[in-house]
Amino acid sequence: MLDATNIIKASLEVGREFLRPPHEGDDTAEKVRAIPLLVPIRSLGVNHRTRIASHLLSLEPHDRYLRFGYMAQDEQILRYVDGLDFDRDEIFGIYNRKLELIAMAHLAYASPAGHDACAEFGVSVVPAARGRGYGARLFERAAMHATNDGVSLLFIHALSENAAMLKIARNAGARVERDGTESEAFLHLPQATLDSQVTELIEEQVAQTDYRIKVQAKQFWSFLADLQNIRRDAIDAQARTPP
Ligand SMILES: CC(C)(COP(=O)(O)OP(=O)(O)OC[C@H]1O[C@@H](n2cnc3c(N)ncnc32)[C@H](O)[C@@H]1OP(=O)(O)O)[C@@H](O)C(=O)NCCC(=O)NCCS
Repeated sequence: MLDATNIIKASLEVGREFLRPPHEGDDTAEKVRAIPLLVPIRSLGVNHRTRIASHLLSLEPHDRYLRFGYMAQDEQILRYVDGLDFDRDEIFGIYNRKLELIAMAHLAYASPAGHDACAEFGVSVVPAARGRGYGARLFERAAMHATNDGVSLLFIHALSENAAMLKIARNAGARVERDGTESEAFLHLPQATLDSQVTELIEEQVAQTDYRIKVQAKQFWSFLADLQNIRRDAIDAQARTPP
């Protein structure tokens, strides 16, 4: 749950991020950094479709198998991304400083009549960002959104070998039913409260602000890099000019 102290600390973290240039190859450094207090998870709209596709296409075959339940080929992933219904469903994402989508979740609402109160959760985190709690945080965020939307049952289909996903579900209190190589997890959601609604609003605002700062920081550092290139070219040209 959010409190004022966490929000202030998270804002300071975002400020520090702004001053850190996104050098190539700093993913290792990011890996060993402490897990942030507040993970900015934002709701993704249709204009994020290309980045969603890049994120999913970057997954290796075994991760695609775990995510979709079959070894999804590139065309199947592209068809899935094309078919995402941003009006009906909710897609959540976590961006890094380079504006790469490093984790995403799909909360799919049941469309057949009589199943309005059900939704299915699917998630993926790039290997370099795993073990930092992003999967669990995306699940919490999706569960809170579903609660606020009047969903009473959240459903996760996972392969029985998927220890991390089943741990996330069990930690959240879901009932897991194993059927051979496949497992289904069911989480009964409580009724929405003013607190759950306000918390979601604040989290979304924090995430939108974090994203805007990342966009500005990226533009700032690329502007600086351009300036440095111009300066370097000018110095080289001067050095080549005969006295
Ligand atoms: C499943 C997945 C989303 C987990 O993401 P993540 O960000 O690494 O997960 P978290 O860091 O939030 O960890 C969640 C829990 O699982 C545990 N966990 C993580 N990896 C684990 C593993 N390989 N084996 C056992 N437990 C594991 C963590 O310790 C944590 O439990 P804890 O809070 O009790 O310590 C990620 O591994 C992934 O993208 N896999 C490929 C796609 C996929 O399987 N999607 C799920 C099917 S819809």
